[in-house]
Amino acid sequence: MNTQKKPEDEIKFRELLKDPIRLFGWIFPMFLVLILAVGIFFVKHLTEVSYNSQSIGLQDSTLLKKDVEMKKGGVLTAVDLNLVKAPTPEFISKGKELYDSNCKSCHGDKGLGDGPAGLALVKKPRNLVAPEGWTNGRDIDQLYKTLQEGIIKNGMASYEYLSSTDRFAIISFLRTLTTYPPVTDDQLKSMDAAYNLSAGSSIPNKIPVSLAEMKLINESRSKSELFLKFENKFNTSTDDPANKLLKKSASDYRKVFYSFINSNVKENLNNFVADVISNPVNAGFKPLVVQYTMEEWKRIYDYLKTATM
Ligand code: HEC
Repeated sequence: MNTQKKPEDEIKFRELLKDPIRLFGWIFPMFLVLILAVGIFFVKHLTEVSYNSQSIGLQDSTLLKKDVEMKKGGVLTAVDLNLVKAPTPEFISKGKELYDSNCKSCHGDKGLGDGPAGLALVKKPRNLVAPEGWTNGRDIDQLYKTLQEGIIKNGMASYEYLSSTDRFAIISFLRTLTTYPPVTDDQLKSMDAAYNLSAGSSIPNKIPVSLAEMKLINESRSKSELFLKFENKFNTSTDDPANKLLKKSASDYRKVFYSFINSNVKENLNNFVADVISNPVNAGFKPLVVQYTMEEWKRIYDYLKTATM
């Protein structure tokens, strides 16, 4: 008897459901299709599908910068060195006042290093009454250095912002807490030479570079009609694709205008591009612009150019 089954020329799905074991034969092609589908999805979405929760974009490090702090300068009045050598009771009580408001929180009422703010510090505030274990030392020039520079790594701040006279007043008060080494003329002389004490000194104002840049830009802006026209166009033509592209490309659009107006290469697209690419950040652009195609550059260039006409 011929037991071999004849191949079915039509799949009878009803039969198939009655005999689920036969479905097994379908799993293989189904698997193949599934893997293919997942694979295609994965490749198409490579940029979004990621096993990391961190985004893969690199940080734009040009936006991370530390600037000079704003600091008001002024004239430091000359220090009366005689007062430092032989402090009057008024000078000492002025020193105590300053000590109470600036130092007591760490060094304690009586200088024992037991102030409440010191408790949290790893390195304990110095016991100013005990002679051992000092980092800089107890001589008057060493005390002055401590207040001038601080011992930053150990949690002792710099008190550079107090005037020299105020710092000496505090030191004079400290010296009444216990016996300190005497003040010698040599020490006074060398401190005078190092810090210009008896002549007084002036400290220039310091302003952050970014503020200085803005100031320069603002100055020329008030002079320049062109700049205002430019800015006006930039703020109103927001539907223009070139405007959008520029917005995306500029880290500071005012800087872009400013450097374009003042640029000597603005007559020629190629020169303009070469100039910007050599230092995009200087010209107010984000570093990503180095990848732009010539077409994109032309759009930006034409936009800037027509705005200056
Ligand atoms: C935030 C807490 C804190 C404040 C406020 C503070 N100090 Fe200190 N000071 C310290 C710490 C901590 C040390 C220990 C530094 C070390 O061990 O090197 C220290 C050390 C010192 C020393 C010893 C330096 C040496 O040679 O070892 C002197 C002097 C001193 N401070 C004076 C002052 C004076 C004066 C003031 C106020 C104008 C002041 N400190 C304010 C925390 C403080």
